[in-house]
Amino acid sequence: MKSEICNTKLLIKSFGCQMNKLDTALITSALQQAGFQLAGDISQADAVLINTCSVREHAEERVLAHLGNLKHIKKTRPEIIVAVIGCMAQRLGDKLLEHEAVDIVCGPAQIPKVPELLTKALADKVKRIAVSEKIRQEPPAEEVEALDRFECLYDSDTQQPPCQAFVRVMRGCDKFCSYCVVPFVRGREVSRAPGGIMEQIKKLASEGIKQITLLGQTINSYKYVAGEKTYYLADLLEMAGKIDGIRWIRFITSYPAGFDETILRAMADLPKVCPYLHIPAQSGSDKILRAMNRNYTAAEYLALLQNARQIVPDIAIAGDFIVGFPGETEQDFEATVDLVEKAQYKNCFVFKYSPRPGTRLWRAEDKFKDDIPAEVKKQRNYKLLAVQEKISDRLSREFLDKTVEVLVEGLSKKPHLDSAEGGNCPQLVGRTAGDWIVVFNGPESLAGQFAQVKIIKTRPLTLFGEIL
Ligand code: SAH
Ligand code: SF4
Ligand code: F3S
Repeated sequence: MKSEICNTKLLIKSFGCQMNKLDTALITSALQQAGFQLAGDISQADAVLINTCSVREHAEERVLAHLGNLKHIKKTRPEIIVAVIGCMAQRLGDKLLEHEAVDIVCGPAQIPKVPELLTKALADKVKRIAVSEKIRQEPPAEEVEALDRFECLYDSDTQQPPCQAFVRVMRGCDKFCSYCVVPFVRGREVSRAPGGIMEQIKKLASEGIKQITLLGQTINSYKYVAGEKTYYLADLLEMAGKIDGIRWIRFITSYPAGFDETILRAMADLPKVCPYLHIPAQSGSDKILRAMNRNYTAAEYLALLQNARQIVPDIAIAGDFIVGFPGETEQDFEATVDLVEKAQYKNCFVFKYSPRPGTRLWRAEDKFKDDIPAEVKKQRNYKLLAVQEKISDRLSREFLDKTVEVLVEGLSKKPHLDSAEGGNCPQLVGRTAGDWIVVFNGPESLAGQFAQVKIIKTRPLTLFGEIL
């Protein structure tokens, strides 16, 4: 079987969040180990694998446009196999399998089956589906074990800059924010055993990984009971901090309600834990926060940030917001602007509300229908980003003339400084422990290394410097 597979070329595309990118990394590694080759583009590919996201309608539209294109290509090359995996595969299931271009549909909980599904489809061209039938029920033990094995066996750094890797510590989400599809595509919240997580980090460290990012939809809810002892996120940070070779540890994403102070203490006390917190507020209006089912008020959220800054003075904080949520008045939006001004984020991500089938809001009566016009959503999105830009600009200027340590990612994708400033060296990009992007000139061989950079110029989201 392997010899046939050896000549099979795959094109792999990922459309989703970090969780989704981690799945893509693991699947890519599993398929390569099974003997598959990677194709440079569609003209060389025997199979196309698309990892999808359902969080906003736009994310699904992009995939559907892509499938439309593949349907066209399959008219002249009917032998190409198309596999759609990930959250959209779980959400649409059979409906997606009916699409003319699609041969395989596989949900996030079934990814260990991808190599087998692909091998079979390449041989017999029969359509196949693997999704969770009852996604909100406790997953069967065999499924959890298969996912854990898959996680430990394959490389989680294939889509990452050199020397960096993601490590999943939790799956699923039980928070049920009223707008969000994630609990219905990723299933029940399950925390992985700390032993397995540490084994995985040790293995990554032995392969040269220096930075790990622990992943979970609400990572501060991590909880694993083993006999007498219950493990929380702060325990994981401490255990991971003891692993030789690992220099920086990050974790995303945090949920504001019930955020435990032990996590902040770990950040303050453990030198390897980066002073960076991604903690979405979503809105600054208590009325909207209630309708979102977020379980905190704007004042509680701001008090949490204040506490975080007291415990970890150099902490960099990032947020997410949804604008144009059903019923969001001008006054509600102004409350969000006010919160952003008070929160002093390093940066924030702003999304226009997108109604998602299956969510609580989707099922609710008319009062929760998508009633904010697209133009208003666009203006609010623009305005909030403009408010944030001023804050990022001010915060970035504080770095002027200071020296920062960065983990170098590699060549900068877009040229920033004029080349005269850098001599013969190319432009590199790296990040500080607080996740600030730093651009400077240096040898490409620095990718994956730490460097000291003196900041000489700043822009709202980027620091520019000279290597020391
Ligand atoms: N678990 C993480 C991330 C969830 S998805 C968390 O809770 O923070 C990433 C972001 O997408 C969310 O923070 C939210 O801002 C946004 N989002 C989720 N559902 C959305 C929807 N229906 N419309 C617009 N944005 C949405
Ligand atoms: Fe979605 Fe809320 Fe869970 Fe985040 S916490 S994944 S926004 S339901
Ligand atoms: Fe991530 Fe999108 Fe799924 S945000 S968890 S890929 S719905």
